[in-house]
Amino acid sequence: MTTSCQPSPTRFPEVGEYLCAKRAMVNGALEGILAGNRTSHDDLLHSSMRYSLLSGGKRIRPILTLAVAEFLGVSAELALQAACAAELIHCASLMLDDLPCMDNMSIRRGRHSNHLVFGEDVTTLSAINLLTLAYQALLSYASGDPTLAYSLLRAMNDAVGADGLIGGQIGDLHPEQLPRDYGVFHTVYERKTGRLFSFAVESGARIGGASTAEFDCLASYAKSLGLVFQICDDILDSNGDPKIMGKEIAMDEGKQTLPKFTGLESSMCMARGLVEFAASQLASFGDRASLLVQVPWFVFEQVPGVGGPVPEAAHNHAAPIVFSNHAAAGGQF
Ligand code: IPE
Ligand code: IPE
Ligand code: MG
Ligand code: MG
Ligand code: MG
Repeated sequence: MTTSCQPSPTRFPEVGEYLCAKRAMVNGALEGILAGNRTSHDDLLHSSMRYSLLSGGKRIRPILTLAVAEFLGVSAELALQAACAAELIHCASLMLDDLPCMDNMSIRRGRHSNHLVFGEDVTTLSAINLLTLAYQALLSYASGDPTLAYSLLRAMNDAVGADGLIGGQIGDLHPEQLPRDYGVFHTVYERKTGRLFSFAVESGARIGGASTAEFDCLASYAKSLGLVFQICDDILDSNGDPKIMGKEIAMDEGKQTLPKFTGLESSMCMARGLVEFAASQLASFGDRASLLVQVPWFVFEQVPGVGGPVPEAAHNHAAPIVFSNHAAAGGQF
C-alpha cells in the first residue's frame, strides 16, 4: 500500500514525523507477509486479510517496536517482523471486535468493517489466519536466535491469551461478572489493550538486547502507555470526530468505560497522570529517550479539550493542536 503520509499538526513533530517515516516501512513488510502467504486457492481469504490489514491504521504498536529497537541501538529492520506481529494481532482483534456479536461496528479505518464486505464467516476465519501469520513472523527469528524467538513467541502468546487481549475482551463484553470499581477498568484496559502495547515495546527491548534495568523501565512505560491509549480512545468515543477517527463514535454507550464511570474530566486527569508516569519511567535515559517520552503526550493530545502546559522534558513546541482528516489513512495521527 502506498499512502502518502503527512503528519498532523502537533506539538510533538518528532513523533509525527517518525510515525510517518516508519509507517511506510511497516506497510511494506505487511504487504510482503501477505504476498508470501498467498496460495492459488485462497482469494477470498487473501482479499479479506488484505482489506483490513492494508487499509490504513496508525501503526502505533509496530512503530513502538521499531522505536524501542532503535533507541537501544539496533536497526529497525531487525525488529520489523516482531513489529508486524504486533500489528497482525491488532488487526485481527479489530476485525473480531467489530463483529455484530461484539461491538457491532460498521465503519473501521474510514471504510466498511470487514464483515460487511466479506461476511462474518470470512471475517472470523481471516482474523484467525492473521494470528497464524503473527506467529509465523516471530518464527522468522528462530534460525538466527532461537532463544530470542522463543521469548518473543511466549510473550506474544501471553499478550493474546486469557490474561491478555482475549481475557480483556471477555471482561469488556461481559462486565456483569466483574466487580464495578476502578480495578475493573485497570484489568480490562490493561488486558484488552495494554498487553499488546507491552508486547510491542518489550519485543523491541528484547531484540535491542535491553539490560534488565532498561527492560523494566520500558515495560513500566508501556504498561502506562497502553492504559492511556484506551482511556483516550474511550474519551474519543464520546467527544471525538468520527471523520478523523475513521470509526463510529458513541458505540460504547452500553459499556462500562472509565469515562462513563468517572466522567470525562476525571478520565482526562487520570490519562494525564498516566502520561506523566509513563514519561517518568524513561527519565533515567535522559535526552536519548526523548522520542519515546513524547509518544504518550502525542497520544493524549489527540483528545479534544486537552491542552495546557506540557513539561519541558516533553519538548513543548507550543504549536496549536489542530486535527486533520486522516480517516482515509485510518486514523488521526
Ligand atoms: C483501536 O486501536 C483499538 C484500541 C485499542 C483502542 P487504534 O486506534 O490503534 O486503531 P488503528 O490501528 O489506528 O486503526
Ligand atoms: C478495542 O477496544 C480493544 C481491542 C482489543 C480491539 P474498543 O472496542 O474500544 O476499540 P474500538 O473503539 O472499536 O477501536
Ligand atoms: Mg471493543
Ligand atoms: Mg470496538
Ligand atoms: Mg473504542
